[in-house]
Amino acid sequence: MQYPISPQQFQQHLIDWQRSHGRHDLPWQLNPTPYRVLVSEVMLQQTQVITVIPYFERWMASFPSVEILAQATEDDVMQHWQGLGYYSRARNLRKAAQYIMTQHQGQFPDSLEALLDIPGVGRYTAGAIRSFAYNHYGPIVDGNVKRLFCRFFALDGVPGTSAVDKQLWQLAETFTPETDNRAFAQGLLDIGATVCKPKNPDCEHCCFQNTCLALKHSRVHELPTPKPKKTIPTKTGQFLWVESDNKILLEKRASDGIWGALWCLPQIHLQPEQLGEHKQLKGTFKHTFTHYKLDANVWMIDRLGITEPQQQWVEKSEVFKLGLPTPIKKFLTRHLEGC
Ligand code: ADE
Repeated sequence: MQYPISPQQFQQHLIDWQRSHGRHDLPWQLNPTPYRVLVSEVMLQQTQVITVIPYFERWMASFPSVEILAQATEDDVMQHWQGLGYYSRARNLRKAAQYIMTQHQGQFPDSLEALLDIPGVGRYTAGAIRSFAYNHYGPIVDGNVKRLFCRFFALDGVPGTSAVDKQLWQLAETFTPETDNRAFAQGLLDIGATVCKPKNPDCEHCCFQNTCLALKHSRVHELPTPKPKKTIPTKTGQFLWVESDNKILLEKRASDGIWGALWCLPQIHLQPEQLGEHKQLKGTFKHTFTHYKLDANVWMIDRLGITEPQQQWVEKSEVFKLGLPTPIKKFLTRHLEGC
């Protein structure tokens, strides 16, 4: 492939841009230890900077070190993640901390291979730890970098497909410098987030306005190639509202499914008709997951014959101290008002 400019020129443009126009005051940029970088990068994987900031601050106040996180209970960790979604990220962070304590005596490794063995750490996070924490060579490719590179190199094809991602990682390996990695990596993310935006990119303020191939060929608005639209199915779900003596029955979900390790209204895998005569609809809620939409009914029933081991009666006043999925939290807020 013929590059529009050399890797050295690309690095110089980006690092200069980062120094004058990039972000310098994000909380994780202060004291970027490998632990703080890991936590922030995992939080930022599917979530916007503005949403992450208060979660990051609360997390660091409660779990200031990898040692403290390794000793925290799963419930405590999940409660700190409540509302961020993609809860396997929180479970993996706790596992990662335990792994660093037992396998590395509490000290993060530096090599890419050893970083990739940490639970929940993939190629992006490993590169980010090398760049941000150690200021070492560490290629990173996330959604921002994919968009920037698809435009800069005028790459056709849908990012996220293996052939395109393979090219993007190869470009990242070639264009990542050996020095100034912290500024370079932050520059890539910042220019992707603030200039080379998905909609209305601000090409007039871009340090690549004279070199970007998409801009040169007036293709900025058609690159990256959009994903074909898929329609996602709707599933219905039946949940129970069982209360007694100012308590409500909740259940902790299995670690591996949706809302894993969070507390939820009991879900039943029956049709509503099978619940018998004495049910009454308490309310409904909807939620959109990555792969489907959930249309939920919540049925009030008098009492359950048995309670399962994962179920517990929780004082209504204590409910919000648990880690709850956002739609369940909203439903409980609406229906427990005044408790
Ligand atoms: N998105 C992912 N990582 C980020 C970081 N370190 N700073 C800003 N935005 C990001």
